[in-house]
Amino acid sequence: MTLQGKHTIVTGGSRGIGKAIVEAFLAEGATVAYVSRTQAEDHAALEALASEHGGAVVFHQADVGNEESITSAIDALHESFGSIDVLVNNAGVTKDGLIFRMKSEDWDDVLRINLSSAFYTCRAVSRLMIKQRSGSIINVTSIVGLIGNGGQVNYAASKAGMVGLTKSLAREVAGRSVRVNAIAPGFIETDMTGKLTPEQREALVGQIPMGRVGTPQEVASVCVFLAGDASSYITGQVLPITGGMAM
Ligand SMILES: NC(=O)c1ccc[n+]([C@@H]2O[C@H](COP(=O)([O-])OP(=O)(O)OC[C@H]3O[C@@H](n4cnc5c(N)ncnc54)[C@H](O)[C@@H]3O)[C@@H](O)[C@H]2O)c1
Repeated sequence: MTLQGKHTIVTGGSRGIGKAIVEAFLAEGATVAYVSRTQAEDHAALEALASEHGGAVVFHQADVGNEESITSAIDALHESFGSIDVLVNNAGVTKDGLIFRMKSEDWDDVLRINLSSAFYTCRAVSRLMIKQRSGSIINVTSIVGLIGNGGQVNYAASKAGMVGLTKSLAREVAGRSVRVNAIAPGFIETDMTGKLTPEQREALVGQIPMGRVGTPQEVASVCVFLAGDASSYITGQVLPITGGMAM
């Protein structure tokens, strides 16, 4: 078990990709705090997984887009854990529309929930990790942040912003053995992509060389790699998980 004894925080861990990351970390022996607006429907199953592998799981309610809410969550978790070894910034939303129909409020909300949230958590956690002289931060961006997508200027800008944040922070903290990387999933089967029409879905799958959508577990296994010592010399990178959609 590669994450035994590690204290980890996953934002947006109540469902989808975040929940798969929580499960994968627990299966590797980690102690996991997931920070979300709501608790996972099957939180008891997460507790069972944790006790089977010698770790623990806690839910902490917070809004990642609210500076005070997320900062006090990080402080409280640090106080109860004593250290934070891994942070995964996974919580995210979409509010799609073509630019001429997009309300300023939909721009602001997506930038705040997807990007400002990562600034708040990275600022709080990197300070602690620098003192520890160890730690791994993983930002969940999107392939859309690298190649763009019509109807998603707000989402793509937020995810491209995360790439800049990741690389700049990686440079700031590398000398203290703190690593900061990003993953860029393509089309993954979750509630977020469940909103697509059959036509949009077919068009998207048509762009994937592997000819299928990805699973949350296929994203989570990459996070296990980036969280643990197997990736100890990797920092400032953006790893696409896309079935070959962007090469
Ligand atoms: N599904 C995909 O195809 C795909 C592709 C690329 C990137 N991503 C990214 O992966 C991440 C997870 O996506 P998903 O598909 O699992 O989405 P999802 O909608 O299934 O889950 C999102 C999670 O974030 C939480 N969340 C949303 N807003 C929050 C807030 N303000 N405060 C706290 N928690 C909040 C939700 O409660 C939920 O747990 C997102 O950042 C998304 O942009 C997803």
